[in-house]
Amino acid sequence: MRGKSVLLIIGGGIAAYKSLDLIRRLVERGVKTRAILTRAGAEFVTPLSVAALTAEKVYSDLFSLTDESEMGHIELSRAADLVVVAPATADLMGKLAAGLASDLASTALLATDKRILMAPAMNVRMWQSPSVRRSADILARDGVLFVGPNDGEMACGEFGPGRMAEPLEIVTAIEKALAIPGSALNGFKALVTAGPTQEPLDPVRFLGNRSSGKQGYAIADALASAGADTVLISGPVEIAAPSHVKLVRVTTAREMLAACEAELPADIAVMSAAVADWRPEFAMNSKIKKEAGHAAPVVRLVENPDILAELAHHQKRPRLVVGFAAETDDVLSHATAKRSRKGADWIVANDVSTNGKGETVMGGERNQVHLITATKQESWPEMAKADVARRLVQHITQHFQDTAS
Ligand code: PMT
Repeated sequence: MRGKSVLLIIGGGIAAYKSLDLIRRLVERGVKTRAILTRAGAEFVTPLSVAALTAEKVYSDLFSLTDESEMGHIELSRAADLVVVAPATADLMGKLAAGLASDLASTALLATDKRILMAPAMNVRMWQSPSVRRSADILARDGVLFVGPNDGEMACGEFGPGRMAEPLEIVTAIEKALAIPGSALNGFKALVTAGPTQEPLDPVRFLGNRSSGKQGYAIADALASAGADTVLISGPVEIAAPSHVKLVRVTTAREMLAACEAELPADIAVMSAAVADWRPEFAMNSKIKKEAGHAAPVVRLVENPDILAELAHHQKRPRLVVGFAAETDDVLSHATAKRSRKGADWIVANDVSTNGKGETVMGGERNQVHLITATKQESWPEMAKADVARRLVQHITQHFQDTAS
């Protein structure tokens, strides 16, 4: 753990006194610890004791000009290797599960690109209440790690689950959490394509699609977190790139292919971009005018290069080529055929039709995929795109471990 850094968020609860011991244990082990003390947390421990133990400034105010000029809240949330919430109150869990950012602690939790470990502490009935159960389920599905709560007598006199894990248990959980990412794909280079391509018709119009890039960005993030040197080649999207990947922005399919080829050789290619199969044969240099009495223009399309197929048959072919298949019907049979037609090792198939509520995988937060290889086919349950990414990266890691042995 020596040399690692932790951002500790201290929520408001009687167990907050144990977070002081936790800091002491972390500092003893050479872990640099910065703390955010919530307003409620400051009712239980003082900023002075937290500052004395961490030997760092204690952060508590989202709107502090001084803090923001020293270290903005986004940077604060990302500078650490791990974010630990101890005690994690029902309030902090609920805010993160609901995506609320109403103070520095909840904002840092939403803005972080690092793993989060929570040590819940609350009254047993609160812990068992349907809404806290819901929050805990959502957070677990989103990849938040938990330590505790333990069973025992509570400060309020009741007995049951709700006591915060002991500082040494939290230290062990931190050690495990810090060990999860990082080394499995060290020394591997990964290429990920994400987002849509836009194929110009004239300077203001293009042919495109609804891909948001969320799935591909999550995959790039998960690969980088597993230690791979990751290049993310992205069409135009609105989301921020993970901080630890190299981002190459492109607009058209032909630019995306050139950017991929420029990054070869690579070990892993994951092609999740929604590349336009066709482009307008001619892109006009000036805006096509609508003129009275003239018929609507006829746009002739020509085929774009197939980037996945090109990389799968390239002289410098990556060792593992993973394509995606976006289907609206016969998902498995179309995706299986696509895998062999394009020469990919694996295909991740997803159904991109709109469900009854008008939601679709393209642009949405969740995905339900099937992993198709030459020898097996697995259907995964619906989950957050970040979880799909992490699970895919676990398979990639396993694949390289199996082929090495
Ligand atoms: O971006 P999000 O909003 O998070 O949505 C995620 C997603 C739905 C876009 C993603 O999960 C997905 O399915 N990506 C593939 C979209 C697609 O173009 O599928 P396809 O079945 O048309 O293409 C099959 C494969 O060939 C894909 O790996 C695609 O990247 C690749 N392809 C397609 C055409 C082309 N000209 N070149 C390609 O490389």
